[in-house]
Amino acid sequence: LKFACYSNDGVDEHMMCLIALKNIFAKQLPNMPKVYILRLLMDSKHKSVMVQRRNVVVGGITYRPYRSQRFGEIAFCAITGDEQVKGYGTRLMNHLKQHARDVDGLTHFLTYADKHAVGYFLKQGFTKEIYLEKEVWYGFIKDYDGVLLMECKIDPKLPYTD
Ligand code: ACO
Repeated sequence: LKFACYSNDGVDEHMMCLIALKNIFAKQLPNMPKVYILRLLMDSKHKSVMVQRRNVVVGGITYRPYRSQRFGEIAFCAITGDEQVKGYGTRLMNHLKQHARDVDGLTHFLTYADKHAVGYFLKQGFTKEIYLEKEVWYGFIKDYDGVLLMECKIDPKLPYTD
């Protein structure tokens, strides 16, 4: 497995990976309009941590770091259908936490979790209680129908990846 973080930087290989990830999100998150997925993936403020198996993208997480507030918003998270429940989603989240802490200087993540994905986020250390002060995030992130706001504190020292 290979983990990498790419954004829209014009490098061919990165763009191909972002398009592959867009196709996974479009299939796994059917309630999200495809143009919206593409817009955020290609938006320069967003970054995507992805997992590749034999050089094929099998999943990823797209997020936006708010560096001055030190939190990140997870916009999309998915593993391709036939590779789910093999532990890739957990390893992906650990790589995201490590990258966001060490590269972006973030201390927390927030996400609007789909109801059926709440169990996954709970296992990744997310809580339904929001401990961050509301003025830090309110008005910066937007909600959707049928979702639950969840928070995760990133450990300042823990080695998340081996
Ligand atoms: N509900 C409850 N528990 C779950 C779920 C779920 N939907 N999905 C996985 N788990 C559990 C697993 O059983 C496992 O538990 P264990 O550690 O006790 O064995 C643990 O969470 C981690 O499982 P992984 O194998 O690491 O998870 P996976 O690789 O399948 O990735 C993911 C999880 C990303 C939710 C994947 O199943 C997926 O893509 N689902 C469809 C898309 C989706 O719902 N994405 C999230 C939408 S919300 C958002 O994008 C902001």
